[in-house]
Amino acid sequence: MQDKYQKYALMEVPRYTSYPTAAQFHDGIGKTQYRSWLAGIGTGKPVSLYFHLPFCMQLCWYCGCNTTIVNEYDRVADYLSLLRHEIEMVTAALPGRLSVSHIHFGGGTPTIVSSPDFIDLMAQVRDVFDVQEDAEIAIEIDPRTVTEAMAKTLARVGINRASLGVQDFSTHIQAKINRVQPFHVVESVVNWLRGAGIKDINFDLMYGLPSQTSHDVRRTIELSLTLKPDRIAVFGYAHVPWFKKHQNMIKEEELPTVLERFSQAVTASDLLKEKGYREIGFDHYARPEDSLAKAIDDNTLRRNFQGYTTDNTEVLIGFGASSIGSTSNGFSQNSPDLGKYRTMVKAGQLPVVRGVALTKDDRLRSAAIEKVMTDMYLDSASLCVDFSFDEGYLDDALDLMAGLEHDGLVIREGRSITVTEEGRRFMRNIAVCLDSYQKDSKGRHSAAV
Ligand SMILES: C[S@@+](CC[C@H](N)C(=O)[O-])C[C@H]1O[C@@H](n2cnc3c(N)ncnc32)[C@H](O)[C@@H]1O
Ligand code: SF4
Repeated sequence: MQDKYQKYALMEVPRYTSYPTAAQFHDGIGKTQYRSWLAGIGTGKPVSLYFHLPFCMQLCWYCGCNTTIVNEYDRVADYLSLLRHEIEMVTAALPGRLSVSHIHFGGGTPTIVSSPDFIDLMAQVRDVFDVQEDAEIAIEIDPRTVTEAMAKTLARVGINRASLGVQDFSTHIQAKINRVQPFHVVESVVNWLRGAGIKDINFDLMYGLPSQTSHDVRRTIELSLTLKPDRIAVFGYAHVPWFKKHQNMIKEEELPTVLERFSQAVTASDLLKEKGYREIGFDHYARPEDSLAKAIDDNTLRRNFQGYTTDNTEVLIGFGASSIGSTSNGFSQNSPDLGKYRTMVKAGQLPVVRGVALTKDDRLRSAAIEKVMTDMYLDSASLCVDFSFDEGYLDDALDLMAGLEHDGLVIREGRSITVTEEGRRFMRNIAVCLDSYQKDSKGRHSAAV
């Protein structure tokens, strides 16, 4: 990495899976507001559903997700009954029966749910929503928890895309992150899933882990490619121990430097492109025949809470502790605290505790940031006009990109911005110029690269 880029790599910036980001959510949005937002959802267009399962068997030291370690299934079963109650409350608040084109089960470890309970949960979902026949139904999988029988259950209930947490195959790194997961475990799960009929397989890899080198990243990718995943996400480890206390188990002196992190990201990108994968945004790769790669050519690529996606719905309904929902009015988040989630649901209350209502300015900036991060191109004048603003409304934001332009990360022509290939890794730094809330954000986000 050239020296001039180091300052960008060290900046703490949001990942922009939403705008405004979760840092702007506040407790002025609660159950009453959420109920009225649900009532206002149009019944004419399909929606997305997200289910959060916040349980794992063992804690990975790097984990940034909302999860709890459980030893007895009773707690999972109790949570599932709350989830079912929440589904009833939400559907009662909707204006009618909705059609669903995307469902995502995230965690935690959604496959901690037993086969009979998973079948019951999906039956309830299909009972109250019209799940389209070609809906994408995706699940996050910790390969250490899946059996061949579970793979068959997932296929039976209609799951058609599975994202496997792989991270890194090197045993010395796995020991340092408390996640021992040999290659053969991942290989078996991939074979079981494909054998059961789940054809779309994603891998999540990570760089920037303790003691990890570019050699480890290369080796992990080479091994991964032998299993031919359709998509690969390569996430930079977000080290935020002030927010996730267990990350203190990771020795900071063992973390790669910013230069090493950058070279690991570039190693992954170069190798995956050489092997025929299309690069999507700053951290995703897909085989050319995969729908995510096709979305680049069709200009239909989107970005949501799961990262880069083909999901183009305007409404996302979140279920479960910590889940985030989004309607045309704003974002709402359920309580991340399991105790509070439980108390609220038991009391018959929608468990939303925070969120943010969107202003006209938020909608425009959200669209502009999404264009930068998906199309790597922003025609600010026409976007402003589309949102009923003056052509020059975002000029101040574009002016903030002068330094980025000088350093070759963007090219500005009038009111248009093109992200260069060098700029691809710094999209979050480019997006931050369009963010009107980014003051005093230090200590809230992770490093840009
Ligand atoms: C929500 S986790 C769920 C997947 C599943 N529980 C597993 O670990 O296999 C999805 C992915 O987020 C990534 N991830 C988790 N913590 C992270 C962190 N602190 N920084 C960057 N990526 C992280 C990992 O690649 C992980 O597989
Ligand atoms: S990375 Fe996945 S398996 Fe590990 S603790 Fe986090 S959610 Fe659980």
